[in-house]
Amino acid sequence: MMPVLHPRASACAKIILFGEHAVVHGQPALAAALPDALRLEAERLDDPRAPLTLDIPAWSLSLQLVPELEHPVARACADVLAHCDGPLQGWAIRGDASIPAGAGLGSSAALTVALAKLALGPDAAVEEIVEASMVGEQVFHGTPSGIDSQVAARGGVLRFVRGAAPVQVALPRPVTLLVVPSGHARSTAAEVAKVHLALERWPTLARPMIEVLGRTTELGERALLEGDVARLGQLADIAHGVLAGLGVSSPILDELCGVARAAGAAGAKLTGAGGGGCMLAWPAGDPTALVAAFEARGLSPLVVEVGR
Ligand code: PMV
Repeated sequence: MMPVLHPRASACAKIILFGEHAVVHGQPALAAALPDALRLEAERLDDPRAPLTLDIPAWSLSLQLVPELEHPVARACADVLAHCDGPLQGWAIRGDASIPAGAGLGSSAALTVALAKLALGPDAAVEEIVEASMVGEQVFHGTPSGIDSQVAARGGVLRFVRGAAPVQVALPRPVTLLVVPSGHARSTAAEVAKVHLALERWPTLARPMIEVLGRTTELGERALLEGDVARLGQLADIAHGVLAGLGVSSPILDELCGVARAAGAAGAKLTGAGGGGCMLAWPAGDPTALVAAFEARGLSPLVVEVGR
């Protein structure tokens, strides 16, 4: 029987609240989902031998899965579909994305998870979806920790330790935060390599810094459960300082954290790999003034309700 795709599937994007980079080195991280950040629809082409097409206009992505195409997205998608025994020909996939690509919000995991769901169908086990997504994530990111795929497939708020089953953190009420894409590109692999280098050069400094980041995750989870935004803000400021010390911040991320604090945020930090990508801020109350401060700089902050 010819392999088929299911008509539609969606996946979450992710925001790392605490513990990025430290999670690569065995510490816990806390991440929250942005539901339905990517929706895919699949349609059968008239010619069953025509190459599979993938179009996601919001990411300026339009490609055909032809074997000679040396495009990482095409390779990742082909690997995910092959892993799921899905079709590589005869289908058109179109995507609608509400987050930017390549900004540290887990766009590649959202894509590989949604693609795996198209191939495996609505009854697939979440572990199976995550495993398929990781096949594609390895094409994009080498040896990722897996946190993006877990959040993209499971949703909610997750505490994650590399190599262990993730734990859902159920919040008594949602907590609002602001995510600001800096518009600066970055490479996760390059930022992860910086931390490896810091650990090699300055082991007695960098190791405790990684442990401090792990502690911010633990204390951050407690503050999140208690809805204690003041403490979340302070912990974000501490985490940002440590991440900057490890070399993964950038002038734009430091500047955006400063803008957030000056506009009354309880605290702010880079989120994801750093070097560019996104910053997150915990608004001390109504986020309107904070949003306006970033919009005045031509940026487009996302107001996110974590744990809804
Ligand atoms: O690619 P990003 O920006 O979502 O960052 C990934 C988070 C890291 O901890 C830096 C790497 C990883 O694999 O967990």
